Amino acid sequence: MDSIVIRGGIPLTGDIRISGAKNAALPLMAATLLSEAPLEISNVPRLADIATLTSLLAQHGAEISIRSDGDSQCLTLATPAIANVLAPYDIVRKMRASILVLGPLLARHGEAMVSLPGGCAIGNRPIDLHLKGMKELGAEIRLEEGYVHATAPKGLKGGEIHFPTVSVGATENLMMAASLAHGATVLENAAREPEIVDLAACLTAMGAKIEGAGTDRVVIEGVARLGPARHAVMPDRIEAGSYAAAALISHGKLHLTGARADHMGSTLEVLVKAGARIEETADGLIVSRAAERLHGIDVITQPYPGFATDMQAQLMALMTLCDSAAMITETIFENRFMHAPELTRMGADITVHGASAMVRGVRQLKGAPVMATDLRASMGLVIAGLAASGTTTVNRVYHLDRGYDRLVEKLTACGAAIERVRAAA
Ligand code: EPZ
Repeated sequence: MDSIVIRGGIPLTGDIRISGAKNAALPLMAATLLSEAPLEISNVPRLADIATLTSLLAQHGAEISIRSDGDSQCLTLATPAIANVLAPYDIVRKMRASILVLGPLLARHGEAMVSLPGGCAIGNRPIDLHLKGMKELGAEIRLEEGYVHATAPKGLKGGEIHFPTVSVGATENLMMAASLAHGATVLENAAREPEIVDLAACLTAMGAKIEGAGTDRVVIEGVARLGPARHAVMPDRIEAGSYAAAALISHGKLHLTGARADHMGSTLEVLVKAGARIEETADGLIVSRAAERLHGIDVITQPYPGFATDMQAQLMALMTLCDSAAMITETIFENRFMHAPELTRMGADITVHGASAMVRGVRQLKGAPVMATDLRASMGLVIAGLAASGTTTVNRVYHLDRGYDRLVEKLTACGAAIERVRAAA
């Protein structure tokens, strides 16, 4: 397993091009299963999760061509017919977003056999809201030996779905399924993330009739079929927030080109309160410190537009070097503080009580070998390593490969002393 080695203490300066958003690209790719017409998706990041979903979609019958397009890639996907309704455990267990094939397979083909995803490092990750929604649309759901066997032989029908908990994936899955259902579907308490709006825009370009994406009430009028479309993936607001934290912790100044301030409201608000200067430019954001020291800020993670759970680890890393204390409360996932003990090994002062972590600022972090446990925790450790004295070695960097496109190259170009060390074969 490869590691990333960072010699900290260097202020980062320069430009970082923000890649397309992983969490937008994945549902957009799944949408190919809804139609036999070609779907061209540009600004797709080069990530392990994209490769995993590509192989999953291909075994369902999608024909996928990939063209390099500068720093990103352009995928052309077409699914003339569903060749196989089974999404196997060995793929689904690696990437929970695989569950997003459930809605499209059901809507297009009337059957899906999708492995239960199982848990992951940050929590047990249930899919009950996905299944409840599909039942509301007339699907029959059976659990068979670790698989969800969903059938809708007469097609799906429109329905009223109220989500008791806001769920990004369930909102996306049901929006896709409802696009081909007979009649209208209403999603109440829908997730409002920008990635939902991006997916709705693509589905609409394919001919879907969707109103209210980005609000908590989405109405989808089913159509008989969906056609061709071209769509560019929105920029990754979490990648942008991660590099903003890197700029701040290293006392640097980064121009995050392609970043969209309108997608990052709560993150930027917290960073400014902590002492960041954020300048909007024609093509992104410039992030630097407004003063020498940063202040601790109390934060509670919430569904969008609240502070994103996917930014929690990165913020915690930043808060370890502030001039005061920060109380960080994680309300979305039940086990998303695994970066805390690793940061503590670097000299951070963090006390975790259940869903809250008290971070007391220290004067300095010291480099150490640390263990990545999940995607965003890994980025938190990289951010801490950029400021720590000495050398930090982040192990198990395959986690980072899932969500950060060319991380070492992007940080090296801004002056970081960072390298990827290949594991001995
Ligand atoms: C998406 O996951 C993102 N992944 C996650 O990003 C992100 O953390 C999460 O949304 C929240 O913003 C992708 O978009 C591929 P949820 P998702 O359904 O859809 C519970 C990253 O680091 N829940 O909004 O799986 C669930 O357990 C990843 O990029 C149910 O109870 O998240 C959680 O507590 C990590 N039943 C809460 O809802 C369900 O059926 C929010 O989950 C579904 C979810």
